Amino acid sequence: MYILAIESSCDEFSVAVLKNEKVLSNIISSQIEDHKEYGGVVPELASRLHVQNFNWVLEEAIKKSNVSINELDYVVYTANPGLIGSLIIGKVVSQTLAQYLQIPLLPLNHLHGHVYSAFIDNKIEFPAIALITSGGHTEITLMKDHLEFEILGSTQDDAIGECFDKVAIKMGLSYPGGPAIDALAKKTDEAKYEIPKPKDINKYDFSFSGIKTASINLLHKLKQADTKIDLNSFAYSFQKTCVEYVIEKLEKAIKEYQPKFAILGGGVSANSMLRTKFTKMASENKIESIIPKNEYCTDNAAMIGMLGFRTIIKEEHKNAIIRT
Ligand code: KG4
Ligand code: ZN
Repeated sequence: MYILAIESSCDEFSVAVLKNEKVLSNIISSQIEDHKEYGGVVPELASRLHVQNFNWVLEEAIKKSNVSINELDYVVYTANPGLIGSLIIGKVVSQTLAQYLQIPLLPLNHLHGHVYSAFIDNKIEFPAIALITSGGHTEITLMKDHLEFEILGSTQDDAIGECFDKVAIKMGLSYPGGPAIDALAKKTDEAKYEIPKPKDINKYDFSFSGIKTASINLLHKLKQADTKIDLNSFAYSFQKTCVEYVIEKLEKAIKEYQPKFAILGGGVSANSMLRTKFTKMASENKIESIIPKNEYCTDNAAMIGMLGFRTIIKEEHKNAIIRT
């Protein structure tokens, strides 16, 4: 079957075409440069830019896939969670296309999509545990089978990426803060600054507002005292606290649920320290670890298409067209 997938939940508009589980094209228009001057995503601007961009992204994805639109069997799209204006643009484009082509339309969940990014080009066995770390979400999910998502824990306040972005602004770095902090932290391995991990709220839930406030307060204190701040070491100290915090929780879940695979997903999984510690921890626990390619870690339509494929072939869709 040929699936066209659309992702528009935040500041990326992306269209992918899949032949069953194989990604034929995955075009992403990113708005990072447009939001930079505001220090974060401006929802109204994100929606307006989606309106400007959807047409070329759609054309390019179809052209690159070498599939004619009349061959498409399904349209799938991100229905939530996300910015409402951004989601609506994706929904309207998807609905229009599906109605014009007279093919089924499937609304899907963005976070489930992030988990499914790991299934692109990988064979994953169950049970699996996914750690999704992004600008809007931080979540540990247990999967006993395809499409069975059991949330073990999630953030109770800020998301990890949001925390990186907000602390980075106070460090004088530009948006998005995650890659900027990552780059500075690579220049040292000395954690000169003490940024405490939060006290446990419960086993697998997270809280990042404490780390954010402690980091920002420390920056203020150092500035007020006219102390020169070693930004490389500050970035390293902050990043180490965040990464160790999520990895410790994930390891606890792995020890309790004994999965065969550990999956890392979401934009923050581009972080070099997180990738290294994740892989090391999985191997120490003797389980396989999967980190999707960077293109599939940040918001993209291929992951939504992959989730769509699994959703379509579920029992209730057994009449789905499978092309071989
Ligand atoms: O998944 P994503 O593209 O969008 C959301 O669904 O939120 O994630 C974007 C987030 C931003 O907060 C960005 O700062 C963070 O991912 N990020 C990173 C790195 N690259 C992107 N955080 C830490 N280290 C990185 N290398
Ligand atoms: Zn996302």
